[in-house]
Amino acid sequence: MIAIYPGTFDPATNGHMDMIERCAKKFDTLYVAILNNPNKKCLFTLEERLEMLTDLTRHYPNVKIASFDGLLIDYAKSINADVIVRGLRAVSDYEYEMQMSLCNQSLYPELETLFLVAKTRFSYLSSSIVKEVASLGGNLENFVPDLVREELLKKYNK
Ligand code: COA
Repeated sequence: MIAIYPGTFDPATNGHMDMIERCAKKFDTLYVAILNNPNKKCLFTLEERLEMLTDLTRHYPNVKIASFDGLLIDYAKSINADVIVRGLRAVSDYEYEMQMSLCNQSLYPELETLFLVAKTRFSYLSSSIVKEVASLGGNLENFVPDLVREELLKKYNK
């Protein structure tokens, strides 16, 4: 089965990495698909995000890092994906995720969305929170992989 784990990954956090690890065990092939969205102001360029995620997932033979623009369902069709995987961190994620999955279902009913519940220790994490802590010189040890921490420190000249 081919799965897509889509997102912005600006940057990838330990929560994202946990999702990738869990999905890599469950699916034959996992595409971690980075949305190239010119309307969203990102700290990291698309190339930087691709490079970081490629380095971070090198040890999973069935994980592919890719980028896409336009509709997720069109990208899913192009790679013959069977499912979209999304993580649920808290009840507050539910409404937005429901809306997205129903929209995708209506556009392309053959594609299922599966939700994995984030582990409690990652349930408060988001890329924005991580960037805020980094910009203010906080300890990022529990939030992001070492490689991402180094790149964040470079961005904020810490
Ligand atoms: N651990 C840690 N953080 C997580 C997380 C997890 N398991 N899951 C989500 N997050 C955080 C992200 O870090 C991000 O934080 P931020 O807002 O502080 O940057 C936030 O939750 C949003 O998550 P993300 O997964 O990046 O979603 P997104 O909303 O940026 O993108 C897409 C969602 C890419 C799937 C969606 O926008 C999309 O499909 N776009 C294509 C256009 C399309 O098809 N639209 C129609 C269908 S709705």
